[in-house]
Amino acid sequence: MEFIKVNPSYQKHIALIELNRPKELNALNLQLMQELRDVLKELDQDESVRVIVLTGNERAFAAGADIKQMANKTTIDMLMVDQFSTWDQIRKTRKPLIAAVSGFALGGGCELAMTCDMIVASETAKFGQPEIKIGVMPGAGGTQRLTRAIGKARAMELVLTGKFIDAQEALSFGLINKVVPVEIYLAEAMNLANEIAQMSPIAAMLAKESVNRSFETHLDEGLHFERKNFYLTFSSEDQKEGMKAFIEKRKPNYKGK
Ligand code: CAA
Repeated sequence: MEFIKVNPSYQKHIALIELNRPKELNALNLQLMQELRDVLKELDQDESVRVIVLTGNERAFAAGADIKQMANKTTIDMLMVDQFSTWDQIRKTRKPLIAAVSGFALGGGCELAMTCDMIVASETAKFGQPEIKIGVMPGAGGTQRLTRAIGKARAMELVLTGKFIDAQEALSFGLINKVVPVEIYLAEAMNLANEIAQMSPIAAMLAKESVNRSFETHLDEGLHFERKNFYLTFSSEDQKEGMKAFIEKRKPNYKGK
């Protein structure tokens, strides 16, 4: 793998993925996205992994899709390559996925962070959808996920002016979960991952699926979906262990069974 570094056992039950095109500010070219898709699929099926953390480096999480790779493409090139189909696979990751963002998270970089379930950012992080400045518009969920996350007025402003927001603003808009000093953003994301990794991975997977369903459906259908997933947890050993541990006043030991 050329543009992705993976540490599947960075900490117990947690896999760390690093985007690794530092000179290009982790611009998301086709190969990088394919590598990311493949590695996420592998980790999603790896029983020892419960939570995945995705990060870049201090200067950039990712500065967007690779402009140099796209610049001379025709509509038919774009249609036939269908670069965003890899993103559909990434979105299907069933395990909790946390973005640890420092520096630029722009265009496709912001969209990739939003594809994750939670975002922990350093104080130096900058988010934005600057595609309008290069004569295009967001193409990997920017108009959809950003609007759902921060509302129409703010999303319109970011998408139509291409302006960046800093981490504090992103936090106050509800786009991200936490802002911490740059020295500890990755450690903080790992702490969050570790907290989730103590839970039943089956319950976590079903809960993630249910929260995501709320964006796809109306309330009645969403509640029905949630209830079925709740009932489904009762066929796991983890449910028996979790409730028994509560009654016995001890820490549960979840096995993902
Ligand atoms: N694609 C390709 N290369 C990129 C890139 C991108 N998105 N972003 C940065 N780079 C490259 C630069 O070309 C430069 O390479 P060279 O040294 O070979 O010239 C290198 O990374 C460092 O970048 P800068 O010299 O520009 O660094 P800076 O600190 O002066 O500026 C920046 C940083 C503000 C992030 C600036 O690089 C920038 O504006 N980048 C583009 C951001 C952007 O428009 N993103 C949206 C892309 S389109 C998209 O993402 C579509 C979608 O919806 C999926």
